[in-house]
Amino acid sequence: MKRLDGKVAIITGGAGAIGSATVERFVAEGARVAVADNRIELARDVASRFGDKAFAVHLDAADADSVKQAIDVSVAHFDDGLDILFNTIALTTSEFMRKDTTAVDVPLEVWDQAMRVNATGLFLACRFAIPYMIARGGGSIINTSAGSALAGDLTRIAYGSSKAAVIAMSEHIAVQYGRDGIRCNIICPGVIFTEERSKPIADLIETMKEHILTPRFGRPPDMAALATYFAADESAYVTGQTICCDGGQLIHQPHVADTRKLIARGVPG
Ligand SMILES: NC(=O)c1ccc[n+]([C@@H]2O[C@H](COP(=O)([O-])OP(=O)(O)OC[C@H]3O[C@@H](n4cnc5c(N)ncnc54)[C@H](O)[C@@H]3O)[C@@H](O)[C@H]2O)c1
Repeated sequence: MKRLDGKVAIITGGAGAIGSATVERFVAEGARVAVADNRIELARDVASRFGDKAFAVHLDAADADSVKQAIDVSVAHFDDGLDILFNTIALTTSEFMRKDTTAVDVPLEVWDQAMRVNATGLFLACRFAIPYMIARGGGSIINTSAGSALAGDLTRIAYGSSKAAVIAMSEHIAVQYGRDGIRCNIICPGVIFTEERSKPIADLIETMKEHILTPRFGRPPDMAALATYFAADESAYVTGQTICCDGGQLIHQPHVADTRKLIARGVPG
């Protein structure tokens, strides 16, 4: 018996790095998966790898009607209700991130866009999925936040704030629908390495390496593994939890990297 045998899942942002790795993992674990994204051609490419176990559906997180339609179409496609919603959508392009600066300088439309897609978009997917889960007797929602929801940074105030909203929203859902059998958990990825995204920021990556505790950066399958745990019945008693998948980036003393260098120079730590 596989961990997600017989389950129906929707992965929003399923064409993305973490989303597509999780489509692969969920299908391998026995689920049927709707790959929902606004980059529909990429979503189709991802779904086509898994025959009738996956299908692509267009979803624009900035448009409530589109989100509702995508959830309805996904449930109808598998004719089986809905067990799992994994929300991975966010505005992540470097073009967008460059505009997301500081409290004084960030353009209001950038703030609004981050909230609209990263927070409201995920909220809408939950809102339209929950009735299907209630009808089925329960389900598992997994929302993707980020480390920047838990600690401040020099830039990206809108992204971090929208990701903090994801945590609060998820905790409210866990409380409001727990007795309906619906669990809602949150994953905060740290640096999840993808070749293409890391190349232009090689210097930043080297600096960040000093601040993780594991020998390597995370990769999309690390996120897929945690999402699988939250999606499966083995986590039946876990809800409202925020788990960081970040190599320990946020749990150590801020001076650890500097102390390591002192120790390497022979200074007692
Ligand atoms: N990769 C990392 O290092 C990292 C770190 C922290 C948090 N995260 C979070 O993890 C999640 C997934 O990240 P990723 O690295 O796979 O990013 P990604 O950009 O590869 O995937 C995000 C997906 O969301 C889709 N999307 C964006 N706007 C949309 C909209 N309006 N409607 C529908 N789809 C839309 C994109 O098309 C894309 O396929 C995101 O929520 C991101 O904020 C990632």
